[in-house]
Amino acid sequence: MKILITGGAGFIGSHIGDFLVENGHEVVALDNLSSGKKENINPKAKLIEADVIDFQKIEGIFAEEKPEIIYHLAAQMDVRKSVEDPLFDSKTNILGSLNLLNLSVKYQIKKFIFSSTGGATYGDTDNRPTPETQMEWPLSPYGVAKLSVDKFLNYFHQIHGLNYVSLRYGNVYGPRQNPHGEAGVIAIFLNKMFKGEQPVINGEGVQTRDYVFVSDVAKANLLALHNFEKTGIFNVGTGVETNVNQLFQEINQHFENKFPEIHGEGKKGEQKTSCLNFDKIKQEFGWEPEINFKKGIKSTYQWFLERK
Ligand SMILES: NC(=O)c1ccc[n+]([C@@H]2O[C@H](COP(=O)([O-])OP(=O)(O)OC[C@H]3O[C@@H](n4cnc5c(N)ncnc54)[C@H](O)[C@@H]3O)[C@@H](O)[C@H]2O)c1
Repeated sequence: MKILITGGAGFIGSHIGDFLVENGHEVVALDNLSSGKKENINPKAKLIEADVIDFQKIEGIFAEEKPEIIYHLAAQMDVRKSVEDPLFDSKTNILGSLNLLNLSVKYQIKKFIFSSTGGATYGDTDNRPTPETQMEWPLSPYGVAKLSVDKFLNYFHQIHGLNYVSLRYGNVYGPRQNPHGEAGVIAIFLNKMFKGEQPVINGEGVQTRDYVFVSDVAKANLLALHNFEKTGIFNVGTGVETNVNQLFQEINQHFENKFPEIHGEGKKGEQKTSCLNFDKIKQEFGWEPEINFKKGIKSTYQWFLERK
């Protein structure tokens, strides 16, 4: 099939591109290269440089490339930046997505697969691991924007018959990750430790996240395509909560525990907990995480080591 991946030069998008190429699909990556990199893109995939909010240009790409499937990952994905500039965040993450949804109806796209977030959508809740049925109370403009696209997807499905899946990821980590994403702390710590610099944990380090390895996320995206008739919202997480102190210790082991655990000032307003229930995607797609945190950190460490 011919598949357009917005954000295809980014961390997660490029892994999805690799999986799709390996499965015999024709892949076009659409990316403005604001954080993505050309070298991430599979050599068998084509790159088109464009911004999702350049409405005319994007329509031209739909008309010319005639994709059958859209994977939509292009986003302003820095949670803190969204707090500083909600307008910029909404422009890319809501209007950019809406543009793609309108075009998907107009050009009869067969399936629209969206990268949403469970990490930033549900907000703090005692109902953990959190299922998709939980009422969402996002604590950032980024989370609000992702949630509004989830709601638009349902609208486009109900009213225009658009077939979709929205995958709500936990905090995704692994090779090619950059320091700005939801699991950015792993890249920040590794970059510092490889330079021999001391990492500093914000606050007490007890805030928890659900860290899910990027190849598991890419596999969930492939299953969303292969289970063609399925529509809806699915969490993609591990059901395991890890706090920043545990994460620091796990990484520090690869440096022979040479760094002491140092704490700085806490960041105000940061979500305290996050952990996702993955029963629904397990039941409907047969997906489960295969890479545990220990193994995932080891392979992320190896990747950074090869590039230091
Ligand atoms: N990394 C995580 O932990 C995580 C968790 C939940 C959801 N997500 C979502 O997954 C998607 C991919 O995230 P990632 O971690 O791979 O980040 P990333 O920054 O590596 O990927 C985003 C890509 O989109 C491109 N892009 C940004 N703005 C664009 C625009 N206006 N037009 C065209 N391209 C644009 C960037 O250049 C980059 O290649 C995002 O939608 C993000 O919100 C990520």
